[in-house]
Amino acid sequence: MSSAGPPGPGTRDLVTLIPGAIRNDPLESATTLQDHYGDVVKFPYHPSIGGSGYLVCHPDDIRTVLQTDQTKFRAHDTRAREDFKVVMGDGLVTSDGDHWLRQTRMITPMFRRHSVERFCRLFVDEARRAVAELEPGDEFELLRECKRIAMRIIGQALFSTDLEAREADVYEALTTLREGFKRRNYAPVAAPLWMPTPENRRIHDAREVLSTVAEELIAERRDDPEAEDDLLALLLTAEDRVTGETMTDEEIRDEVVTFIVAGHTTIAAALTWAWYLLASNPAAHRRLHDSVRDVDLDSPSLETMGELGEATRVVEETMRLYPSVPLIGRETKEPVELGGYTVAEGSTIVISPYLTHRDDRFWHCPGAFDPDRFRDERDPDRHEFAYFPFSAGAHMCTGREFAMLELPLVLSAVVAERRWTFADDTVPDVGPDFSVNLEPDTEIRMRVDEWT
Ligand code: HEM
Repeated sequence: MSSAGPPGPGTRDLVTLIPGAIRNDPLESATTLQDHYGDVVKFPYHPSIGGSGYLVCHPDDIRTVLQTDQTKFRAHDTRAREDFKVVMGDGLVTSDGDHWLRQTRMITPMFRRHSVERFCRLFVDEARRAVAELEPGDEFELLRECKRIAMRIIGQALFSTDLEAREADVYEALTTLREGFKRRNYAPVAAPLWMPTPENRRIHDAREVLSTVAEELIAERRDDPEAEDDLLALLLTAEDRVTGETMTDEEIRDEVVTFIVAGHTTIAAALTWAWYLLASNPAAHRRLHDSVRDVDLDSPSLETMGELGEATRVVEETMRLYPSVPLIGRETKEPVELGGYTVAEGSTIVISPYLTHRDDRFWHCPGAFDPDRFRDERDPDRHEFAYFPFSAGAHMCTGREFAMLELPLVLSAVVAERRWTFADDTVPDVGPDFSVNLEPDTEIRMRVDEWT
């Protein structure tokens, strides 16, 4: 084990060496850090938190962080997570310790594959509804359309309402939060969120919009608890099998806001990138169409997924290139060995699906969009931790089964009927923009075409 500690830039190097740091682009900065310094890089963490950050890139070490030594890490002490807490309170994404354990015991069963199978029909219906609203020749903005589909789905799955009446407010609130958090995250010094600056007021107002939507829907349901058979009904009746306790309205509100944020922005981003990649790769687009056009999607179930292998691989490959959550943070609770170095207690650890998914030691031609690489036989020896879009270990994404039914089914239902191409027939120059989730850095205009 080395006593020198991992290599990395000092604060001055960070600014002069790394254009991404100047442009406040964390993914470009992380890529440059790995290129310059290797698999474990020490970097000065955000000035408002202080202490050292470590970028950890090798799948062996990612396994250590997420799985083997996971109890040595706190799940959230990065700056971004603290900000998220203002919005999602003590929901699953932002809590830890005993509260998280109790909530996860109650909530995880709702998201098992067999439990979320009943939403398959919803996924197809909402995709078909989106198709029906667009005539061939119509143009639209891709991310906005994918957000609309994802929002309607999470609204129906949670509350049995498509949030239509509140969609504009929720959309605006989420956009405000995304932009506000991005500015805060990149500012050398950001005012604590309790200070009444104009930016902080906007963030709190946006949080209030989401909380109010959740509180109103919970209150309506408390008046008529038998009304629906959706995730809210399950949250209202969930009992902790260890203590027999149920959740308070505040706890349910935090989980509901968590599901609205985590369950819709991630999906919308992944759908957007999938269509961007398909429209950029007409042969793959055509192949997906051919693979789904004769599949009966009228009563979709887990069995149907067996016929949607191509769509599932397109989704997997999309999330390799553009994982919705491209950076995952942890904090060490005790010294940990990573890559042959000892990392001290209280350090921030950053791992990046975005980086490791594009590492040519583990992926052949990593920049190419090639859904076939997810055929079982193609790369049987690939490192288990070279691919982790949903993370791993105890904090692995709660909604992964939901997502892995929703995304292939929505894609299939749309692609079976329509071709979505770039509005001006040329591939736009699009890069990733990271705040909360990985979205395109520019608008993508699309056109609806018929298959010929
Ligand atoms: C493309 C789709 C999605 C991706 C790529 C994704 C990815 C992730 C990742 C990387 C984490 C962080 C885990 C960690 O800190 O180690 C996470 C956590 C979480 N996700 Fe997702 N997610 C997606 C969709 C969803 C959906 C649809 C829901 C719910 C309806 C959801 C709910 C959650 C929750 C509750 C957590 C917190 C888990 C915990 O800490 O216990 N996600 N997700």
